[in-house]
Amino acid sequence: MSEGAALDPKYVSLLWAGPEHAPEIARLHGELFAPAWSEDSVRSLLDHPASTAFLAVVGGPPKVPVGFVLAQLVADEAEILTIGVAKDWQRKGLGKRLLDGLARAAQRAEAKTLFLEVAADNDAAMALYRRAGFLGTGLRRGYYARAGGDAVDAVTLALKL
Ligand SMILES: CC(C)(COP(=O)(O)OP(=O)(O)OC[C@H]1O[C@@H](n2cnc3c(N)ncnc32)[C@H](O)[C@@H]1OP(=O)(O)O)[C@@H](O)C(=O)NCCC(=O)NCCS
Repeated sequence: MSEGAALDPKYVSLLWAGPEHAPEIARLHGELFAPAWSEDSVRSLLDHPASTAFLAVVGGPPKVPVGFVLAQLVADEAEILTIGVAKDWQRKGLGKRLLDGLARAAQRAEAKTLFLEVAADNDAAMALYRRAGFLGTGLRRGYYARAGGDAVDAVTLALKL
C-alpha cells in the first residue's frame, strides 16, 4: 500500500480501547481539550468494568492513533464521556464512525439510550450529534468554565438506540 493510500480515511480502523491505550488517548485528548485529562485518569476510566471505548488508528506499522471515544454502559443506559478526532483528521467522517461504532456496541450490550453533554458553543460537535439523531434533553447553565471568559452552558442530548 502506498503512503498516500495508508493515510486515506478509508484505511482507518477502530480498535477496542483498554487501559493499555491510556497514553495515546490522553495525548490526543490533550491536543483537543483544556483542561486535558491526565494519563492516570484516562487509564482508570478505561479500567472500569463499565467502560466501552474505541481508538481510531491509521497506517502503520506502527499504527497512528487519530481519534477516540470513551463511554460507560450502566444497565440500559450508555454515556459518552469524551470523543475527539485529531485536528488534521477532522471532517473526514471519523467522528461519525466513532459515534456509530459506540452506538452499535451499546446496542449489542442492550443499552436503550445513549446520553452525552456538550458545550453549547461547540458547533462542530453539536452538528455531528444532531445529524446522528440526538435530541436535546436539558441545559446546565454555566457548566463549563472558560479561562479568561464567561462560563458556557452544557446541553444534554440523548439518542434512542
Ligand atoms: C466533534 C468532532 C469529534 C467531529 O469529528 P469529525 O471527524 O470532524 O466529524 P465528521 O467528519 O465525522 O463529521 C460528521 C458530520 O458532523 C458535522 N460536523 C463535523 N464537524 C463540523 C464542523 N466543524 N462544522 C460543521 N459541521 C460539522 C457535519 O454534519 C459532518 O458531516 P459532513 O462532513 O458530511 O458535512 C471533532 O470536531 C473534534 O474532535 N472536536 C474537538 C473535540 C470535541 O469538541 N469533542 C466533542 C466534545 S462533546
